[in-house]
Amino acid sequence: MPVKKQVAPSILSANFAHLGTDIHMVESAGAGLLHVDVMDGHFVPNITIGPLVVSAIRPVTNLPLDVHLMIEHPERYIEAFVRAGADYVTVHAEACPHLHRVLQAIRGLGVKTGVALNPHTSLTAVENVLYMLDLILIMSVNPGFGGQAFIPHTIDKLQRAKTMINNAGYSQIAIEVDGGVKLENIKKISDAGADYLVSGSGIFKSDNPSETIKKMNALIA
Ligand code: DX5
Ligand code: ZN
Repeated sequence: MPVKKQVAPSILSANFAHLGTDIHMVESAGAGLLHVDVMDGHFVPNITIGPLVVSAIRPVTNLPLDVHLMIEHPERYIEAFVRAGADYVTVHAEACPHLHRVLQAIRGLGVKTGVALNPHTSLTAVENVLYMLDLILIMSVNPGFGGQAFIPHTIDKLQRAKTMINNAGYSQIAIEVDGGVKLENIKKISDAGADYLVSGSGIFKSDNPSETIKKMNALIA
């Protein structure tokens, strides 16, 4: 069963002084998921959002909350993010020596599981846990900051990820791409196999964010 293609605005580039307003805007423009970038200053150099912000966002939107944990020891915080309202919890393979156990913990809390792979990390990192996954997040920048340039090699990796899940009989797993996705490249990235297209600066720093989401949806349809 193919996954429905969706635009997932990353609130990292939203106006944090008017977060609720920005979230209403992306929801009414046709976003499919709300991407929440959690950074700890250890796994990545930047520090951003914690469970407190996720719980503040939860009541202002009906969009699924797609929580991307760029943190060390994610197992310590999974429950807090689920309690706060996360619908997807995505951990980095590079931060999880016991990835299987972490995915069991996420599943056990009744939410969707995701694994993120940094640009250098091979797809084999998730090969043996496909049966536990709802989402594979292919990083198309090195995580830590919004506004970086899309790494072109990601196109090939997306194609291989799609082939891997289809050949293994797991076509229901969503392939998400994150970093440097903009109006200019979204069609090419979608055609390569991405189902969920995360975009932060490409949406919020555009002249008309609402129109940008509508145009993105038309390009990936
Ligand atoms: C990068 C984050 C991304 C980021 C994307 O570390 O995981 O979600 O916000 O931002 P843009 O779309 O600006 O590259
Ligand atoms: Zn992200």
